[in-house]
Amino acid sequence: MGSQTHWEKIYTEKDPNAVSWYRPHLETSLALIEKASASISASIIDVGGGESTLVDDLLARGYENITVLDISQTAIDANKKRLGKASERVHWLVADITTIDLEPSAYDVWHDRAVFHFLTSPSDRLAYVRQVTRAMKPGGNVIVSTFGSEGPTKCSGLEVVRYDADSLHQEFGVRFRLVDSCKELHQTPFGTVQQFLYCLCRIE
Ligand SMILES: C[S@@+](CC[C@H](N)C(=O)[O-])C[C@H]1O[C@@H](n2cnc3c(N)ncnc32)[C@H](O)[C@@H]1O
Repeated sequence: MGSQTHWEKIYTEKDPNAVSWYRPHLETSLALIEKASASISASIIDVGGGESTLVDDLLARGYENITVLDISQTAIDANKKRLGKASERVHWLVADITTIDLEPSAYDVWHDRAVFHFLTSPSDRLAYVRQVTRAMKPGGNVIVSTFGSEGPTKCSGLEVVRYDADSLHQEFGVRFRLVDSCKELHQTPFGTVQQFLYCLCRIE
């Protein structure tokens, strides 16, 4: 089953709060975004945003230039419905992050929670890193969260690659300076716990 078909099926069949990665608010992501950019005019892209409420919380904090990208049209439509009129203040993209041609030098902040870890093939990871490198402004901040080295080996039934801060940073290379990293024990809606890693890197 192709990646897009997989995610469409997930979001068609499951409620937003019935997926393992659900949190009412992405507190760690928000804290890192605020650390990365205090300016509300910062251009922020949430890659593989799914149906998360990160966009709601960014709008509530006054951020004015937000893009949410996801491979699933169903997830993007659910966000638009939840946000109502406020959704008109967001740029929405339905695309595969490894193949879309994002505008060059467009973003100040890149956020990805639980997307990069699905890229199990080196060529997809390379395409992702090329995408970030091209789409970010010089000095931009890249926040990537994956399962940690003690996290699960699968997410949503798909194999994942688990990382620690060093191995994740290595995927991105020397142009990305590791500024901060932390781990989070995420409580799933099913009462289990998953170790997540968050890294904030700055493009030199
Ligand atoms: C585990 S969910 C995480 C959703 C959200 N970031 C969160 O933390 O709640 C992974 C998301 O990535 C999206 N996704 C998976 N592969 C993708 C790709 N190649 N390009 C864009 N989005 C992708 C899925 O549709 C899904 O919404």
